[in-house]
Amino acid sequence: GELKKWSGKTTEVYSSIISEGENGVSGPTLLGSIPYMTEEGALEALHSACDAYGKGQGIWPTMKVTDRVSCMERFVEQMKLKRDEVVKLLMWEIGKSLPDSEKEFDRTVEYIYDTIEDYKQLDRDSAKFHKHQGVHAHIRRGPLGVVLCLGPYNYPLNETFALLIPALIMGNTAIFKPAKHGVLLITPLLEAFKSSFPRGVVNIIYGRGREVAAPIMKTGRIDVLALIGNSKSAIALQDQHPHKNRLRLVLGLEAKNPAIILPDADLDLAIDECIAGTLSFNGQRCTALKIIYVHEDVREEFNRRFSAKVDALKFGNPWDPEVKLTPLPEPGKPAYIKELIDDAEAKGASIINERGGKTTENYIFPAVLYPVTKNMRVYEEEQFGPVIPVLSFKSIDEPLDDMADSSYGQQVSLFGKNVNTIAPLIDTLVNLVCRVNLNSSCQRGPDVYPFTGRKDSAASTLSVHDALRSFSIRTFVASKDN
Ligand code: G3H
Repeated sequence: GELKKWSGKTTEVYSSIISEGENGVSGPTLLGSIPYMTEEGALEALHSACDAYGKGQGIWPTMKVTDRVSCMERFVEQMKLKRDEVVKLLMWEIGKSLPDSEKEFDRTVEYIYDTIEDYKQLDRDSAKFHKHQGVHAHIRRGPLGVVLCLGPYNYPLNETFALLIPALIMGNTAIFKPAKHGVLLITPLLEAFKSSFPRGVVNIIYGRGREVAAPIMKTGRIDVLALIGNSKSAIALQDQHPHKNRLRLVLGLEAKNPAIILPDADLDLAIDECIAGTLSFNGQRCTALKIIYVHEDVREEFNRRFSAKVDALKFGNPWDPEVKLTPLPEPGKPAYIKELIDDAEAKGASIINERGGKTTENYIFPAVLYPVTKNMRVYEEEQFGPVIPVLSFKSIDEPLDDMADSSYGQQVSLFGKNVNTIAPLIDTLVNLVCRVNLNSSCQRGPDVYPFTGRKDSAASTLSVHDALRSFSIRTFVASKDN
């Protein structure tokens, strides 16, 4: 949590929430600033992490389990004292609703406590005695080395910590770069990092990936690249590393989770779940439903009722309890979503809800597009924002074949009632994605369940339990019967 060689220059951080300035001119709100970091500063952070790891002989990887647990407990206790400050910044920086910002903070605290408990269990398991073919063994889990963590803007606290916390508790040292939007909220926690962990164990870097993270990767001294975000950044950073075989990947990447609505589905339920699945936090979730397949027999009714529900959603500021749609933190997002809509319209789709596509400075109202076809960008690209492509199907083979051909493989939502239809489908779906949600939208939690994906969607698995394994290696001491 220490900043090295800081020149004193800063970068300003703005919120896309518009407020009225002096002279009555309104525009994005200035929230604060972060240090402007250079490559030199980033490399200092790396050296500090390498020293604390000490090639496996440093203070942190050799520390007793109980002491490492105490550091983490001290950290989470101090973090809890900063709840109000962090929640407020979360809401302002990324436009997440107040209840969801509070949920993100509380979920993170719970995640840390659960990780501590799971780590203690892992330690108890290592005391077990194994014997096979005359060889005795005590198997335990040890750290991998120095971890570079990069979190996403949609869960700048929770998902950054979902990487950082398990990495640290397993005895790795870390450098972490907060997301571009959702960066200030780390500031209130810096003191907690500094006073809870030995020097060099946690190091923060600021700036653009290519300016601060790429030079770190280039040194070849990173053992684990832990990133939740987009594939392009993950690939660009991997490419910098001179010894790829030594690099462990813990990645949560893009997804295009489909909803499949069978003819016998409970439409009230399917519509409500599709609203939440496509539009909670404006669709800016890797687990969001990003494409809807509806059976031809119920297509008309679904489209009509679903579009009306979308139109009834209120746009506004995140502290308003009535509001469901909030300003988009990325300034270029409304224009990008508009491009997808224009492309789909030019290729034969229509916006089927009245308010769809209406744009303001910091928002674009969700457009429901039908009929979407495979040649459209919105079919292929992970929109990560408020636009909803709808396709209809006659045979279930159509969505299944599309999923099999997709570059992604995270989750699916299946809506239907007949167990005899659903049961055999599940056996196929679990080979295409990693989580099948029955009559419910896709989501990551509860955090004890494995969170991963096939193909371009993920590498390694996160969750309270799995992350400890992703950030460690099994080692053991063996002896023979003499
Ligand atoms: O961005 C992807 C997140 O992991 C989604 O998490 O399903 O809890 O919103 P969530």
